[in-house]
Amino acid sequence: MSAPVNAPVSVAGGAPGGAPLLQMQRISKHFGGLQALKDVDLTLQAGELLGIVGDNGAGKSTLIKVLTGVYPPDGGGIVLNGERVRIPNRRASIDLGIDAVYQNLALVDYLTAPQNVYLGNEIKRSVLGIPVLDNAGMRKKAAAILNDRLGVALGDIDQHTFNLSGGQRQAVAIARALIQEKGRILILDEPTAALGPEESRRMLEVVQRLKRKEMGIIMISHQLEHVFELADRIMVLRRGRLAGVRSTAHTTRQEILGLIVGSIADYEADAGAAGAAVTP
Ligand SMILES: Nc1ncnc2c1ncn2[C@@H]1O[C@H](COP(=O)(O)OP(=O)(O)OP(=O)(O)O)[C@@H](O)[C@H]1O
Ligand SMILES: [Mg+2]
Repeated sequence: MSAPVNAPVSVAGGAPGGAPLLQMQRISKHFGGLQALKDVDLTLQAGELLGIVGDNGAGKSTLIKVLTGVYPPDGGGIVLNGERVRIPNRRASIDLGIDAVYQNLALVDYLTAPQNVYLGNEIKRSVLGIPVLDNAGMRKKAAAILNDRLGVALGDIDQHTFNLSGGQRQAVAIARALIQEKGRILILDEPTAALGPEESRRMLEVVQRLKRKEMGIIMISHQLEHVFELADRIMVLRRGRLAGVRSTAHTTRQEILGLIVGSIADYEADAGAAGAAVTP
């Protein structure tokens, strides 16, 4: 059963003087007879990159979809900056500053990168009192985000995104999430799964550049080496349950693999790490 809405919020391990950026508490979700998630806890600190790993079907995407309002949970609660929130749909999650970039990127192929970045959030300017699209402004700002912030060059910024490579398309999708004014939490579900080695490397650099004080990033990946490279903490799901959370600096691939396959089943032994701030 979920805690009452105004229940005191645990801030174990939170930033000094503040609650964690995000807490998902005892999240459960079933599809018919299948228990996709059971009592899963997740804590994300501001400035942190949390990796989520687990076998196929472990519940990773379902957990993210609960956070982004795609699925209502059967039980559990979500607390953002110490306040309990309801996320009944995708719009609500975006309004709360939570956005996700999925593997099957929802880009419109026949629009340019700037048009995709600002789709639904177009910048307008006034001409003789009539609002018109500020195409030059959007183009300039999109180019600045892509080039300066993400370090990705598109060549011709006016070409249709249809012509872009997988990594470039992913960068456009990330730029789209970044222009949301309230963006506080960015979720990347398998950011490198469809990319070749060269593009994966560049995507990892993009994610690395995104890390900054006020934002939290959740990255789901099957590629442990990428998770070890970028994540501050690693959360392991197994068959819909939390198998363990470890700070990356204090674990090994072997231990994480053990948690993934179930040969290590000692979540309780490291329960403190669930809300732990990252130790340098
Ligand atoms: N809409 C749905 N209807 C029915 N079952 C679903 C639905 N979405 C997910 N499931 C089931 O819930 C379980 C968890 O799925 P989920 O997609 O969260 O796994 P995952 O950890 O993301 O796996 P992968 O690594 O393969 O992406 C799976 O058994 C899946 O078949
Ligand atoms: Mg998935």
